Amino acid sequence: MAKINLKNLKVEAKKGIEKADNLKDLDEIFRKYLGKKGKITLIFNSLKKLPLNKRKKLGREANLVKIGLEKLIREKTQKFKEEIRAESLGKEKIDITRPGKKVKIGHLHPLTLVQREVEEIFQSMGFSVITGPEVETEWYNFDALNIPKDHPARDMWDTFWLKVEANTRIHTNDTNRLLLRTHTSPVQIRYMEKHQPPLRIIVPGRCFRHEATDASHEIQFYQLEGLVVDKNISAANFRAIIEEFLKRFLKTDIEIRLRPSFFPFTEPSFEIDVRRKKGKWVEMMGAGMVHPNVFKAAGLIPNAPAGGWQGFAFGAGLDRLAMLKYKINDIRLFYSGDLRFLKQF
Ligand code: FA5
Repeated sequence: MAKINLKNLKVEAKKGIEKADNLKDLDEIFRKYLGKKGKITLIFNSLKKLPLNKRKKLGREANLVKIGLEKLIREKTQKFKEEIRAESLGKEKIDITRPGKKVKIGHLHPLTLVQREVEEIFQSMGFSVITGPEVETEWYNFDALNIPKDHPARDMWDTFWLKVEANTRIHTNDTNRLLLRTHTSPVQIRYMEKHQPPLRIIVPGRCFRHEATDASHEIQFYQLEGLVVDKNISAANFRAIIEEFLKRFLKTDIEIRLRPSFFPFTEPSFEIDVRRKKGKWVEMMGAGMVHPNVFKAAGLIPNAPAGGWQGFAFGAGLDRLAMLKYKINDIRLFYSGDLRFLKQF
């Protein structure tokens, strides 16, 4: 009976293979006869119940059927695959004259471009580029800059205070609280502690202020600090240098205006506004002559009353410089990550 069964199965399976129209049909046939629960597989499984001689004979025959069917299925599968390939090749057209796809690569952020350009201009005027920490101590950010604790001038800088304290006490017990620097001016002190004048430095860097944002204010932004110390430095030197810088940086005729102002670490102090021809005045930087107390805090002897060092310092908004150069009307665009904006640089 198993024998008849085997013969029938062979004929039936062959017919199925002949009729198969596609790979799916073939797969079904394979599973029906040769799969785990396939009809021929079941015959193999039943062999162990038969006496040895019958088992051998039927086993051999079933094996031949199995090999035969596998071959047929393999050949037809191959045939279908070739047909599919030929068909898709016929459909695909390769246009070898079509231009290649451009690989997209990134580029520098406009603020980085501006920072680099600013550095180059100042370096050509003999300035060194210095950096300082973004996490600062209360001492360097305030006290050493002649802004004592509880002095109302501290309100000029809305500060992000950090909960940890510096490991080492810097000057008094009160001044080692940590904060995110509100300006780049603390680097003036850090640099003068370690370097004897005469000196000319600029300090580009990120600053943080806990204040409401608008078109010209961000909670994090970039400043460019400048410091020149020597024996005979005056506000006239400052004006000349800053005018030369702005002319080279903006590459256009501009006007600048110095307004009297107040900073605890400069005396006298001024605010510098800049405008293009007939444009709106934009506040660009604070500046002034370095206050004697700042020299003292850094361990230098000031010129007042006489014989010591004097100099000027300024702190400009790098973002504002970039806005003026590229005619950008909202500072928040720099930090938005909007590619439509960034791709223009
Ligand atoms: C200061 O921060 C002083 N340290 C500047 C200074 C340095 C004065 C040395 C004297 C000597 P002020 O807070 O005005 O000053 O900030 C300086 C400049 O930073 C501003 O003119 C402006 O261009 C920029 N700036 C200030 N706050 C922001 C802000 N929230 N977003 C963007 N730019 C800002």
